[in-house]
Amino acid sequence: MDFEKEIAKRRTFGIISHPDAGKTTLTEKLLLFGGAIQEAGAVKSNKIKKSATSDFMEIERQRGISVATSVLAFNYRDRKINILDTPGHKDFAEDTFRTLTAVDSVIVVIDVAKGVEEQTEKLVEVCRMRNIPMIVFINKLDREGKDAFDLLDEVEQKLGLTVTPLSFPIGMGYDFKGIYNIYEKNINLFSGNSKQHIEDTIAFDDLDSPELEGIIGESHAHNLREYLELAGAVYPEFNKKDYLDGSLQPVFFGSALNNFGVRELLDCFIEIAPTPRPKMAEERLVNSNESDFSGFVFKIHANMDPKHRDRLAFIKIVSGTFERNTPYLHVRQDKRIKFSSPNAFFAEKKEIVDISYPGDIVGLHDTGNFKIGDTLTNGEKLNYKGIPSFSPEHFRYINNADPMKAKQLNKGIDQLMDEGVAQLFTLELNGRKVIGTVGALQYEVIQYRLEHEYGAKCTYENFPVHKACWVDPEKENEEFAEFKRIKQKYLAKDKMGQLVFLADSAFSLQMTQQKYPTVKFRFTSEKES
Ligand code: G4P
Repeated sequence: MDFEKEIAKRRTFGIISHPDAGKTTLTEKLLLFGGAIQEAGAVKSNKIKKSATSDFMEIERQRGISVATSVLAFNYRDRKINILDTPGHKDFAEDTFRTLTAVDSVIVVIDVAKGVEEQTEKLVEVCRMRNIPMIVFINKLDREGKDAFDLLDEVEQKLGLTVTPLSFPIGMGYDFKGIYNIYEKNINLFSGNSKQHIEDTIAFDDLDSPELEGIIGESHAHNLREYLELAGAVYPEFNKKDYLDGSLQPVFFGSALNNFGVRELLDCFIEIAPTPRPKMAEERLVNSNESDFSGFVFKIHANMDPKHRDRLAFIKIVSGTFERNTPYLHVRQDKRIKFSSPNAFFAEKKEIVDISYPGDIVGLHDTGNFKIGDTLTNGEKLNYKGIPSFSPEHFRYINNADPMKAKQLNKGIDQLMDEGVAQLFTLELNGRKVIGTVGALQYEVIQYRLEHEYGAKCTYENFPVHKACWVDPEKENEEFAEFKRIKQKYLAKDKMGQLVFLADSAFSLQMTQQKYPTVKFRFTSEKES
């Protein structure tokens, strides 16, 4: 019974946005409401502002902070809220995609002046494909920005969502008066200096009442009535079922910096956002209220202290309870492991915890047992479906620059790939290693980490590849044999041993497809099931 109650309390979600839309600020304000921090400015942004290694190094220096901010947990009105941090920088997009496998819902932050930006489009697309419930928060209403209806249109068009506003701005920028909360039927007036304290609201369910003029002035009252009538006619009425199955997205307006509209968002969120959702394993669908424990690794965080080369593997608990010092089955390795000091996260701290419930994240110290996507269970052989790898955009040979350190280099490359820093391809012809990444920044990060964590030196060499194409399992026919013989130079194995064709240009890919029609290519690593 307690178990079910604990599950019902959990809300595990991620905040996604284009860099600078206000994700860090909003996170901080949510923590403030939860009483998890006392003052603004306590949460350090771990974003990388420029594509510069120095920023990454700076972040690594502060790794103590960034490990803790990977999961920020707090209690609010008897709910346990887990926020999973998602890097905004595009070079780390794969990291964010993987974190999205562990959230039960997301909040999408959009800058009122910039509207829908590129990174938001990509991340929302992944959420859409997985039917993850989404709430949209339009931020920075204290600044001049786009018209509310234009923005709602843009969200629908560019993000492919069906929206319904649950709050509506009254004025904007210089003339910003506040917001009308459609969901709770009240008005929240903006005073401009509400950075720290929590706003009072004025209950207001009869919009026709002349009192509205008294509160927000004649012209705002007139506009608000008109806009709300229009919104009511244009947008579908909110219903929880559509939101939960990912077909309707409620929208809130506010200003995170001014702590304005955030309480409305949070109060609605805890009421409508899903409790830990069931998750699909290759074998079957697993429900959170099953008593047997199961969970999966969605993130691995390396320890940058060279004296302790341990890592923290982040596990999302899908079902059952995770208990300290209990042996669990590591399904891929088919062995039992127990953990004497699992970490739970609370606000910016981590602490050892005896028991965790579905929806929770635990951090397990790891000396190299885990890879992203690994499943742990009580004993059942389950394999949770992860997020597939997409074709990287950059490819380079990696060479050993210190022949005495070949072993260290190989170990370093192996472990960094297990963490999901980049993808490794080993050429069939000569065994040379090729690293594929989403952004150029990763090459510097890998080089730096190989040197500092493993004592190995590497150099890179360009390898012009247009796209990595995963080849469907080999067929024993002449066409396949010829394809392998002719394209030998471009064939490689990925980390899982799957065959990959590294097409050097779009043209060559097209020609290959035409010449060998029975050879089937996939553009992600996930096999059809
Ligand atoms: P991110 O994590 O999504 O990248 O964004 P972050 O919260 O760091 O916010 C980016 C910038 O936008 C910050 O300013 C932040 O203060 C500002 N901001 C966030 N919410 C609001 C808002 O509601 N109104 C206004 N006017 N600004 C907002 P910065 O100058 O880049 O950083 P800082 O020096 O203020 O920290």
